[in-house]
Amino acid sequence: MSLTRERQTSDHPAGSGLRAQATVLPFARPASPEASPAAIRLDEDSLSSLARLFGSSCVTPWSERGDGALAARAYELLELSDHFEVWVIHWPSDGALQLHDHGGSSGALYVVSGSLDEGAVSVANTYDHRSIGAGQGTSFGPRYVHDVVNSGPDVATSVHVYSPPMEKMTFFTLGADGIVPERTDYRADPAWAP
Ligand SMILES: [Fe+2]
Repeated sequence: MSLTRERQTSDHPAGSGLRAQATVLPFARPASPEASPAAIRLDEDSLSSLARLFGSSCVTPWSERGDGALAARAYELLELSDHFEVWVIHWPSDGALQLHDHGGSSGALYVVSGSLDEGAVSVANTYDHRSIGAGQGTSFGPRYVHDVVNSGPDVATSVHVYSPPMEKMTFFTLGADGIVPERTDYRADPAWAP
């Protein structure tokens, strides 16, 4: 894969999120976290720095774009290389992405405007929530499973960096017996978005 730049805006089919807190039972994580053995995986500090750099210098919050109301999440691919990718995501109020992994990629997110609520499945298989405000971010390794929702009244804008670039994402549901895989989306899908 050569160094390329392109832009993409699309609606993602995974529009519903999980917002309840629950204790999660163990589940089978991917046997191999490696998305691509040939790709370089940036460490979490580097991913956080990239997310903050792009978020503080290359992204205009939705509220300043003059594009009117936002009905569904909107995506733009800012950068794609062999080793990482950078997306900006605009989240309408109540816009959410259900529990998902990142196909073995590591990642980081940085909130440019508004705030996002994240629910993450911990190593101890608990489901923990936190709010990430503007100017804040987080990073994660290849086995991370979380959901994200904009619980605020205004559009939130965030930057997401993944390394290596994601090849797939598996989505999970939260049931009485814990979280279980629901489906896997692949990058080759024209509707692909993180
Ligand atoms: Fe994610």
